[in-house]
Amino acid sequence: MKILPFEMERYQSLWENIVDYNLSESGVHPLQLNELISHDELARLVELPLGYNQTNGSAELRRLIAGFYSNAGKENVLVTSGSAEANFLNTLFLLEPNDEIALMLPNYMQIWGLAKSLGANIRPFHLKPNHTRWEIDWDEFDRAVTEKTKLIAVCHPNNPTGARLQEDEIERILEKAASVGAWVLSDEVYRGSERDGNLSLSFYGSYDRVIVNGGLSKAFGLPGLRIGWVVAPPKLVDQLWGYKDYTTISPNTLSDHIAQIALQPEKREKIFQRTRSLIRKNFQILENWMGGKAGLFQWIPPEASAVTLVRHRLPVSSNDFVTKLRDEKSVLIVPGEQFLMPADYLRFGFGTESENLTAALDLVSEFIAEKFEK
Ligand SMILES: Cc1ncc(COP(=O)(O)O)c(C=O)c1O
Repeated sequence: MKILPFEMERYQSLWENIVDYNLSESGVHPLQLNELISHDELARLVELPLGYNQTNGSAELRRLIAGFYSNAGKENVLVTSGSAEANFLNTLFLLEPNDEIALMLPNYMQIWGLAKSLGANIRPFHLKPNHTRWEIDWDEFDRAVTEKTKLIAVCHPNNPTGARLQEDEIERILEKAASVGAWVLSDEVYRGSERDGNLSLSFYGSYDRVIVNGGLSKAFGLPGLRIGWVVAPPKLVDQLWGYKDYTTISPNTLSDHIAQIALQPEKREKIFQRTRSLIRKNFQILENWMGGKAGLFQWIPPEASAVTLVRHRLPVSSNDFVTKLRDEKSVLIVPGEQFLMPADYLRFGFGTESENLTAALDLVSEFIAEKFEK
């Protein structure tokens, strides 16, 4: 198998640490270690032998992760190196050449790229703007899922739209999956970053072929720990663990311990409050900015996450816009083309520090004025 380039990840890797303002990031401004742990905890951490970790994640960490889902125990959890590894292991394990996968689009394009590389048959179903919400095109969904569907993959809350599925929508997907015996893979790494403070419902728990991937990178603001997870039936967890023996062997030992602190229920809630309050504050900044642009931008506000997919009326493709903006103003935005969206969509990440966001948006305004308002 030859793996296709992951266009967005490589684009971000190349530019995110070079530009002055990075609005390509989908998470929130990360926590520092000293904001997360106490002196006593730090003292214990520095005495930790840096040996191999328990390779599927420590029992305590798996117990804490399971506590974030109803009806899960530590036997349902595999700790991975970021949710990216969770997506990788699952896709590799579940899909063979010519297998059918029904895939939600737009999406973080990792599962799309891996499924395509594996020679699977991708049948997309789209989130479409419907007044105030992004909603699944159910006709397309019903066509995408067939008797041959092996896997239905969703991203909820969704990257890049920030859309969140409702209970009846989750049930509808699960019912359809059950009717054809398909697995459901729900990437829920943004769960906990809801603007209204109501934790998104998880797909986990009501159908025996559900796999949920999650991690600390987005709603927890801890991407540098590289802690992700799979929550699934024990047999599948065990099989995926077998694949993990070939990838990263074990989660990072220090990260496993720090993650145990972040996932204590009280701490977890505090972290989510920080994330949501930054998202609310910055959403306001972005909304005001967008409002001042007199119809140039059209958007459906995100329900969760610090990303939003915005439609523009500029006489230029998003690819060209972001390239020139990056080169001339040192601001990085992701073009919609990288999500297989039409060329008039842009993904703004607004989870950075508020002053940064304001300064970056001022530069985008300046750029638009110089190029298009003369
Ligand atoms: C939906 C989604 N899943 C997975 C990932 C990978 O994140 P990580 O490996 O840091 O958990 C990302 C990163 O942007 C994402 O947006």
